[in-house]
Amino acid sequence: MSAAGTTTEGPTVDVLIIGGGAAGLMCAISAGQLGKRVLVIEHANRVGKKILMSGGGRCNFTNTGASPANYLSANPHFCKSALARYTPAHFIELVERHRIAYHEKELGQLFCDESSKLIVKMLLDECAAVGARVETSCSIERVVHGDSGLFHLHTSRGVFTAPALVVASGGLSIPSMGASGLGYELARQFGHHVLPTRAGLVPLTLSGKHQERLQDLSGVAFPVEAHCNRKAFHNYLLITHRGISGPAILQISSFWQPGDDLRLDLLPGLDALETLQRLRHERPAAELKTVLGDLLPKRFAQRLCEHWLPNRPMKQFNEPQLREAAALLASFPLVASGTEGYRTAEVTLGGVDTDGVSSSTMMSKQVPGLYFIGEVVDVTGWLGGYNFQWAWASGHAAGVAA
Ligand code: FDA
Repeated sequence: MSAAGTTTEGPTVDVLIIGGGAAGLMCAISAGQLGKRVLVIEHANRVGKKILMSGGGRCNFTNTGASPANYLSANPHFCKSALARYTPAHFIELVERHRIAYHEKELGQLFCDESSKLIVKMLLDECAAVGARVETSCSIERVVHGDSGLFHLHTSRGVFTAPALVVASGGLSIPSMGASGLGYELARQFGHHVLPTRAGLVPLTLSGKHQERLQDLSGVAFPVEAHCNRKAFHNYLLITHRGISGPAILQISSFWQPGDDLRLDLLPGLDALETLQRLRHERPAAELKTVLGDLLPKRFAQRLCEHWLPNRPMKQFNEPQLREAAALLASFPLVASGTEGYRTAEVTLGGVDTDGVSSSTMMSKQVPGLYFIGEVVDVTGWLGGYNFQWAWASGHAAGVAA
């Protein structure tokens, strides 16, 4: 087979995959295992860049509790079939077969003990074992769907042809890691509807008074329960130079849009009123900022009492005043001005409308042989290994079908 196939020579391979990320590589392995000739086209100089940078370099490769409830999509049922057929246990079996040591951090999140590099190596070893080829630094110029039903991929390395084309080019987040909008463009080219995209799992920015009052506390972190649009996440909040981040905020950011009401329970797990009543009883002479300083980072407690709460000895709070303070602590209204955008977002919400794609095979309902998998599809997981699990599961579904 020549490296550069031509339109007249017939198919170069059985399955062409655009994008050598998590979904594309898994698809290549699954198709290769069934004896298909596979070629992955990656425009970056190496595959799996997001895997490498994920989980702080240790790749949170799955979540043992992954279920359809952990995903956002215009059609919440769409992800069910693929997730049921390729489960976290399947990926864990693969990881164990490659003797990659891992551990559970919290909430079912599995991380490599050593390095994300091992996950990329595992995927490439599996590709090699089934003869799936990977071309890196290969840019795609255009895709033509011939009369014969074959897809012709015009690239910087020539034209590659196949009866099956899998779009696994990911979302828009972190352009410096190779993200591009090609998947959405191809979807539109082939008549698919693309839902509006926006950054998800992303730090939120503050402006005006909120930013002025919190900016110099950058680096301060503490547990909160973040609430927005009837969703709540209990985890850490981190104050940043530009706003707020940390797992609780990244999670809720996927449910937040400009103008939406965002509330923080600053004393998660505690009844704020009962706590303040108890403290008034136990430490009547202590000031509010002092007693709050035992429950929250001291500097943050002090800032709260400078700008949002009256600071005075606990015994000087009457019942209505205590109730007012408790209400603010239990439901602190934070006015976010926006997100940090795709530059730092972990994922892209929205994308190829699942209405046009088969949930069992990931194949286009209007163009036979065309598949969409991974993040380019309108399925987005929570923080915690869910996005890779979707990439593995949707990649597997297309790989066995293509
Ligand atoms: P992915 O982005 O992995 O791959 C797409 C590939 O297509 C890339 O290699 C890209 O270069 C290539 N491509 C794009 N345009 C192309 C073009 N025009 N031509 C050819 N190739 C093209 N998830 C999780 O579950 N656990 C975690 O720990 C993390 N951590 C994390 C950290 C950070 C910093 C980010 C940005 C993201 C995460 N994620 C995560 C999310 C996870 O990385 C993401 O959901 C998956 O990588 C999506 O897999 P895909 O294969 O769909 O896209």
